Amino acid sequence: MTFPIEKIREDFPILHQKIKGMPLVYLDNAATSQKPQVVINAVCHYYEKYNANIHRAVHTLSERATLAYEEARTACQHFIHAKEAREIIFCSGTTVAINLVAQTYVRSNVKLGDEILITALEHHSNIVPWQMVCEQTGAVLKVAPINELGEVIQSDFDALLSSKTKFISIVHISNALGTVNPIKEMIEKAHAVGAKVLIDGAQALPHMPVDVQALGCDFYAASGHKVFAPTGIGFLYGKAELLISMPPYQGGGDMIRTVSFEKTTYADIPYKFEAGTPNIEGAIGLKAALDYINTIGLEKIYLYEQELLAYATQQALLFPDIRIIGTAQEKASILSFVLEGIHPHDIGTLLDEQGIAVRTGHHCAMPIMKFFKVPATVRASFAFYNTMEEIDKLFEGLNKVRKIFKK
Ligand code: ALA
Repeated sequence: MTFPIEKIREDFPILHQKIKGMPLVYLDNAATSQKPQVVINAVCHYYEKYNANIHRAVHTLSERATLAYEEARTACQHFIHAKEAREIIFCSGTTVAINLVAQTYVRSNVKLGDEILITALEHHSNIVPWQMVCEQTGAVLKVAPINELGEVIQSDFDALLSSKTKFISIVHISNALGTVNPIKEMIEKAHAVGAKVLIDGAQALPHMPVDVQALGCDFYAASGHKVFAPTGIGFLYGKAELLISMPPYQGGGDMIRTVSFEKTTYADIPYKFEAGTPNIEGAIGLKAALDYINTIGLEKIYLYEQELLAYATQQALLFPDIRIIGTAQEKASILSFVLEGIHPHDIGTLLDEQGIAVRTGHHCAMPIMKFFKVPATVRASFAFYNTMEEIDKLFEGLNKVRKIFKK
């Protein structure tokens, strides 16, 4: 496949620098992605030309900022094929989106003895909010186990579904392993027992096309900073009828219709869930990022990243002392591994000496580490601006690490 990689790399100013005297090789995209110049420009342009608060004034700058903010909502709607723009709630990211659903929809719809189902592949942000709501309501948290490949065991998932299952929250792509869950089938099975479903899409949005209507999920959570936009912005998608039925999450300005000391009434969705001055420049940057991705096309991005992953996996298999953690059939562009006898943190530090950025640690997924009986992994996570040559550099770097430790 031809992919305009050189042109794409030109769009990301941060990539063209040296770290410790070596050209930067940025392979920590699952933690946060880099930003193209168009995103940086969009944010600067907002501050230089039309910074103002939104939804609050009739002056020109406020109207321009409001329009840009609402255009960003429409961009998110189209990006994930939501039916209506009001189904997009802006928030700071996936973590807040999940907590919002836990503390509004789920807290008011589950009772003692009901069950909430997650999987053993979840990030802490898709575990802890459910533990909290279980403590508050007396609901029980169930966990569908994974196999040695890092895939959810579908027969066990099925066996855990019953009329007691009221809510299911599943990761689309595992941040620690790269496993892509068969979420469409899982959503259908969940709906068959009457449960509602949230998908943690933090890692999916930058890597593959998402169509929430085709998937049929009730909620979908995502973060801007993983998808080449600024930090501190993200969104929750929710089906309109559910969002309308839910109590608000936080109280404050912009989420009300009327306020009196006797009784307050709330704004319509999406504003009911957007208390306070939002991250306006973040939303504007997010739109610029989504527009930019659309110019390349997620189908092309997905195929290119699959080539990167296949090449990296092939290289890893040439190392007899590398153990790949997470070998699911369906994987996105994440290579997690351990190198026998060398702690991942030492590997990360020595790779950094060579200009190579990877993440090492438990990746906010301690239960996955426990399952694979490792304290941590080295995680190389690729984006569409990475190259095969950078993967070569990663393995040359690992060879050097090995030589230092195994002299
Ligand atoms: N969740 C992010 C990661 O996987 C921070 O690195």
